[in-house]
Parts: sequence; C-alpha cells; structure tokens
Amino acid sequence: MEVIVKPDYDQISKLAARMIADVIRNKPRCVLGLATGGTPVGTYKELIRMHEEEGLDFSQASSFNLDEYVGLEHAHDQSYWYFMNDNLFKHVNINLANVHVPDGKALDIESHCRWYDEEIRKWGGLDIQILGIGGNGHIAFNEPGTAIWSRTHWTSLDERTIADNTRFFKSVNDVPRYALTMGIGTILEARKIIMLANKDSKADAIAAAVEGAVTAMVPASTLQFHPDTTVIIDKAAASKLKRTYRTEPAKAPVAKRKR
Ligand code: F6R
Repeated sequence: MEVIVKPDYDQISKLAARMIADVIRNKPRCVLGLATGGTPVGTYKELIRMHEEEGLDFSQASSFNLDEYVGLEHAHDQSYWYFMNDNLFKHVNINLANVHVPDGKALDIESHCRWYDEEIRKWGGLDIQILGIGGNGHIAFNEPGTAIWSRTHWTSLDERTIADNTRFFKSVNDVPRYALTMGIGTILEARKIIMLANKDSKADAIAAAVEGAVTAMVPASTLQFHPDTTVIIDKAAASKLKRTYRTEPAKAPVAKRKR
C-alpha cells in the first residue's frame, strides 16, 4: 500500500482524478471501477472539469460500480445508478451502453451476482477501482466478517452502515437493509486500486486498515494483499496513523545507462 496524506479534501480529489485520468489517457478502452457515497464526489467533479476543459475522453471507457441497494430502481434518487448518472455519467461522454451498476431490482439475485463477476472478466477486468471506506472498515458493502475471497453477492447492511447512510434518506426506516456488492475477491482482482478517505470520522477505520493486521473484521485491511493500492487521505483521516507518510506518490526510479 502506498499512503498519501494531503492537506484537504480538494487535494485528495485532484490527485485521485489525476490518477484516473492517467489510466484513461494511457488506455482509452479502460474499465473503470466506480464508487458512490460522499467521498468520491469531488473526484468526479474534477474529472468532469478535465473532460470539459482538457478534453478528457470517456468515449471508449466502460465502468462497473461497486454496489447497489436491493429494491431501489434506477429512477429512485438514492439508487446508486441515479447517483452515478447525476454525479458523473450525464456530464461526460461515456457511452451509457458500457456502464454497469448492479441491478437492485434483479429477480434472481444470485444469478445476477454471478453474471456481474463474469461480465467484469469479459470486459477485460478492472483497470482501476476507486474505493471509499466505511466507518466500520467496509469496502463496497463488504461488512466486517465478509470472506476475504468473496465474489459479487447480496448482503445485509451493518447497523453502523445503516446509521451512517441515514443522512441520505428521510429517516433511518427508509434506508434499505440489503445490498448487492462486488466481493472483496472481486475488488482485489483490479489492476490498480485507489482508496479515498477524508474527515476524522474515518481516522479509526484508516488506522486499522493501513497499520492494523489483515483481518476479515476490517475488510479494507485486505488491500494490504494488493500489489498496487494507493490510499489517499486528508490530515483528519490520517490523524490516528502512527507512521509518517508521503504527500505525493513515489516516482519509479529511472535506470542510468553507463556510457
Ligand atoms: C459506495 C461504497 C461504500 C462507501 C463507504 C463510504 O459505493 O461502496 O463502501 O464508499 O460507505 O461512504 P462515504 O463516502 O459516503 O463516506
């Protein structure tokens, strides 16, 4: 894991967007793994700015979202499909035929989950996966205790997740209790992962994920197994870390030839 600590949310978002844009520019037919929630909104805003002002071209890219609430249709304003359209898709030139969000209204949930994993493989695998982190250490909706090699599956939401996500709904009773989510195993197959966090409400989860032992009880700690993960956090989210970390990604060494 490479950990980068930035002064504020704006700087996190700009670095994350720059890393995603690099993937898109190097491989126009890339497969993006996308997240919802409050954390990546600034990253999506910066990607939209890059599209409008710098011509960042999404026309050949495809995408797979991490998760979706069971029971919410696309048109529901708290569905993750709606979120993605509102915060990114409708502002850039991505082809909507190439975007994928798990279907919260699928009639056969288990076969839909198997299909989702197969589809990621068919499209060539995830080139870059963006993650937030739950206050309980979850990634996507892999709640504490989820099997480390899990594939896309349905899950019931942890009490902490329901409480944290109540802010997006009218009341706690409106928060769906079930979700579809990529598994930890699915996520770990992405070629590159960036995990973002800001605010001190994430400090304990970040400390456990980055400096704690790898355990299914802290799903984000499993990223320690992944060969190319960058954790980009602000000072508040870094406040419980014991070690000191970089402020910019390390540059690969350049070999000097002898003359
Ligand atoms: C969202 C997702 C979740 C969030 C996490 C943090 O697609 O998979 O794991 O990333 O719950 O949410 P925010 O960013 O709202 O704090």
